[in-house]
Amino acid sequence: MKGSFITLEGIEGVGKTTNTSFIKNFLENSGKKVLVTREPGGTSFGENLREIILEEKDYKLSIITECLIMFAARSQHIEEVIKPALSDDYYVVCDRFTDATYAYQGGGRGLPKDVIDHLKYIVHPDLEPDLTIYLDAPEKISFSRIEDRNKDSFEKEDLAFFKNVRSSYLEQASLHQDRIMIVDASNSLDEVQKDISHYLKVLLDRNSDV
Ligand SMILES: Nc1ncnc2c1ncn2[C@@H]1O[C@H](COP(=O)(O)OP(=O)(O)OP(=O)(O)O)[C@@H](O)[C@H]1O
Ligand SMILES: [Mg+2]
Repeated sequence: MKGSFITLEGIEGVGKTTNTSFIKNFLENSGKKVLVTREPGGTSFGENLREIILEEKDYKLSIITECLIMFAARSQHIEEVIKPALSDDYYVVCDRFTDATYAYQGGGRGLPKDVIDHLKYIVHPDLEPDLTIYLDAPEKISFSRIEDRNKDSFEKEDLAFFKNVRSSYLEQASLHQDRIMIVDASNSLDEVQKDISHYLKVLLDRNSDV
């Protein structure tokens, strides 16, 4: 595949969506074709599943059901959108991917890591992001940025849940230091975008060498 796969990760309100647009502009200004997408979602099937996962329910999804839905949406997203775009030379910029499953269903909900490893192996044994920007900030800071928003089913979890999600993200970043770049998202947006630009330049340089 000739394109590149870039993912953004982090807890609620750290700036993933804001910086997805920034990355799109940066790459387009560098002459690249860019496709922006998100998870859960990214296809009409996946967006339907997203609604089911995030809406208020009068029943509770089991942890494994929630995880399977994430991977079902992801499988469709990969086959229908991500792989075709990468084959067509696109830079695919995705707001959350499998690192989020490790962080939320693993760290947050307590699903064993090897269950997620297995599902990842089934769904995308041959696809890994080329670059992951992990936006890191204490949950109190990121949550203060989205105070006025209507909360979805995850955003209603308590701060302890997000502390675990954040720890899990940091653990993954330390396991995959060549891929996951930690950006301090408690800094000003200008500083955050300076850091992201640096990592994008490194990726573009690497791609121009091959
Ligand atoms: N570094 C920053 N400093 C201050 N405010 C920021 C920063 N980054 C983003 N914001 C603001 O914080 C709010 C949340 O940002 P954004 O929607 O991009 O977060 P998100 O990670 O996509 O959240 P969610 O997980 O809920 O989708 C927005 O109002 C955005 O303008
Ligand atoms: Mg967002």
